[in-house]
Amino acid sequence: MSVTELGREHATLRATNLQPLLEVQGLTKLYQPGKGCQEISFDLWPGEVLGIVGESGSGKSTLLRVLSGREIPDSGAVNYQFENGAQSSLYALSESGRRRLMRTDWGVVHQHPLDGLRPRVSAGGNIGERLMAVGNRHYGDIREQALDWLSQVEIPTDRIDDMPITFSGGMQQRLQIARNLVTHPRLIFMDEPTGGLDVSVQARLLDLIRNLVTDLGLSVVIVTHDLAVARLLAHRLVVMKESRIVEAGLTDQVLDDPQHPYTQLLVSSVLQG
Ligand SMILES: Nc1ncnc2c1ncn2[C@@H]1O[C@H](COP(=O)(O)OP(=O)(O)O)[C@@H](O)[C@H]1O
Ligand SMILES: [Mg+2]
Repeated sequence: MSVTELGREHATLRATNLQPLLEVQGLTKLYQPGKGCQEISFDLWPGEVLGIVGESGSGKSTLLRVLSGREIPDSGAVNYQFENGAQSSLYALSESGRRRLMRTDWGVVHQHPLDGLRPRVSAGGNIGERLMAVGNRHYGDIREQALDWLSQVEIPTDRIDDMPITFSGGMQQRLQIARNLVTHPRLIFMDEPTGGLDVSVQARLLDLIRNLVTDLGLSVVIVTHDLAVARLLAHRLVVMKESRIVEAGLTDQVLDDPQHPYTQLLVSSVLQG
């Protein structure tokens, strides 16, 4: 999809949805002054891909952990709109409520795939476990869905009984994606999903992610320090520097006409790498 097509898709999304999926208001989690994230506010709309960019240490991963309820902020709010239209404050949910959300509506794709997989459980088991966690008990059905998802993420189906530790990095990452998507979540958080991979493997994975996101109408918050990844996947970007958002807007606006001097530096690639 070209940038213009992404822009057009985005305009349609915004026109057809009345309520944001996530409303983020003044989210702050600081480990030390300037270390973490502070005063982060944005809306995420259904079907929208939001990129969080910024150099290493700017607070991207902290923000993602807080957003996805894996860490509790010092202050601020995240409101989530459930499929039935009900809205909930993420941090007002009980611990088990947040865990249930994570098993059903949400998914997390970690930078290091083994952080999001069970390394000594078979590939099929890794996918099946997510299905069992939402109450599926039918072995034949679970195996069938595991096979289907392996082929959707381009893993040879004859690897279904092999353990993730025997897979290449790219295959592990694709398995982690399958494990997340098998339960049809509405919202996925990704932290540098192509980070540790060879360039050619990255390109294929990005293509796969882009197609899945479009086909399934997923909402995504994706952290990346790689502006090429952001350009390819994200409808909208927020740029972080020293724990704060310094610029936000449509991806092509931010990358083609950056307003903040820090974004201008990022785009001119002085700070990349
Ligand atoms: N659990 C933690 N304890 C203390 N400091 C942390 C912790 N996590 C992150 N930090 C600090 O917060 C800052 C932002 O880190 P991080 O969110 O990982 O940035 P990024 O993902 O943009 O590289 C860094 O200075 C990091 O050292
Ligand atoms: Mg990080």
